[in-house]
Parts: sequence; C-alpha cells; structure tokens
Amino acid sequence: MSQIDRDFQRVLEEIDGSVDFEPEYYNEAYLSRRISARMRRRDVDTHADYLDVLIDSPEERAALLDSLTINVTNFFRNPKMWEALRPVLQELSASNRRVRIWSAPCADGREPYSLAMLALDDPSIDASRIEILGTDISEDALAHAREGVYETTRTTDIEAELGLLDDPLKYVEKTETRFRVTPAVQSLVTFERHDLIADAQKSGFDLALCRNLLIYIDSAFKLPVFETVAESLVDGGHLVVGMTETIPAGCRDGFEPVNKRCRIYKRVR
Ligand SMILES: C[S@@+](CC[C@H](N)C(=O)[O-])C[C@H]1O[C@@H](n2cnc3c(N)ncnc32)[C@H](O)[C@@H]1O
Repeated sequence: MSQIDRDFQRVLEEIDGSVDFEPEYYNEAYLSRRISARMRRRDVDTHADYLDVLIDSPEERAALLDSLTINVTNFFRNPKMWEALRPVLQELSASNRRVRIWSAPCADGREPYSLAMLALDDPSIDASRIEILGTDISEDALAHAREGVYETTRTTDIEAELGLLDDPLKYVEKTETRFRVTPAVQSLVTFERHDLIADAQKSGFDLALCRNLLIYIDSAFKLPVFETVAESLVDGGHLVVGMTETIPAGCRDGFEPVNKRCRIYKRVR
C-alpha cells in the first residue's frame, strides 16, 4: 500500500471513530470524491493534512458528515418515473383496502411528500386509503422531513419541482421563498429512523421506493439493502429503484418489469 493510500485509510479510520457515519458501507470512489471535495473547501492538498484538520476541528467533522450523508433529493425527482407511477397508485387505491407505501431512504422527505401530493392531486387516486412511511439513517434529514419546510435557493427551485401537479400551490403554504407542506399532505406520511443495512426488516408494503442509495453503497452491502426492501413487499407488491440503478443479479427472478425504463417492478415471488 502506498503512503497516499495509507493516509486515505487513516482518514477513513478517523471517520469511523469520530464521525457518526459508517464508511465501510459505501464504495471507495464515492468516499474519495466527498473527502476530496471537503479538502478543496479547506484548502488542504494531502490526506495527511486533512486528517489533522479532522482531528482538530469539530466543525469540519460536522461538515464532512453533512457531505457524506448524500441527502440530495427533489420533489418529483425524475418526473417520467412519477408519471409512470400514477397508474400504479390508481390501481392500488382502487383495491378497496389500506395501501402501505415505504420510501426508503427518504432524505429530507420530498420523496414521500411527492407520493402524498400526487395521491391528493389525482382524482383517480383515493388518497384516504394511502399510508406512507418515510425512513432514513440521518436524524438531521428526518428532522427536516418532519418540519416539512423547503426553501427556493440559487440551486433549488421548489415551485418548479412541484410542476407535475395540477394545482401545486394547494399542497404548500408559500411565503416568499419558503414552502411549508400542508397538514393534509403531512397527515399521509410518518417518519422513522431506519438503517437499511443494520436494522430489522419490515413487512406488508404494497409499494416500496428505494432510489439513489444503491449507487453509493459498497458492493458487499448492495444485496442486504436490496433484500431488506424486497422482503418488505407483499406478493405482487411494486418496487421502484433509481433511474441509474438496477436490481442486483441474483434477485432478478423475483421481479418482473412494469416499466423497465422508469425502473418500476412487481414482486412475483
Ligand atoms: C440521495 S438520498 C436519496 C433520497 C431519495 N430516495 C431520492 O431518490 O431523492 C440518499 C439517502 O440515503 C440515506 N442513507 C445512507 N445510508 C443509509 C442506510 N444505511 N440506511 C438508510 N438510509 C441511508 C442518506 O442519509 C440520504 O438521505
């Protein structure tokens, strides 16, 4: 192992020991990108120097944690997928029973709130049957999700994100650049901390969304994460993965595509 590799490993060990994050879950290319981005921000050139900054500065440990938890998300991220999901929600809610949906991971809540808003906005979906659980490993992301307040910034246009809805401003209270999700939307969603690698499996879901986490996960953990989500589904339950993700080899027989391009599948056994 070269000195550079050794210094990088020491940074990972420091993260493991003093930052509330498990580096071994994630692939090395991802960790390296996030750490390099923080090194540029702190103007340090080597992993050895960055390690010193990390040891000395609680602020840097917090900033690195923030950067590593990848909680990038949108309302209606990949709008084509949401249009393809609409008939699935219509069919599920026509079944005359409670429909249970799991958004895992949900980041700051925009994904489960998108489900709730779509259900309320589409007259062919019976929102009164729908119950959504949003889970994530990050308590900060969950606190944001429970608060349900989002801000338009230089890089995020919340009103544009809601553009798929017929009547977007019916589901948020808008004050200047701030958007608060309405109580009607919030009443369909509950949030809970859940680690998709370490925590117990769940069950009884008619639909699960597991989008934009598998791409960051080390290959050794992809299967356990995927199985946790897949096993939570009832027979015939639907699954959505991210647009750049695939069902891991070895699990493909258990799913048939409903809309392959939009990564919507149905559990067949
Ligand atoms: C990029 S976001 C995806 C959010 C949303 N599904 C989407 O596609 O917009 C990834 C989220 O995964 C969460 N996460 C990372 N590791 C996790 C784990 N082991 N269990 C549960 N959530 C995890 C992060 O906290 C982050 O909020």
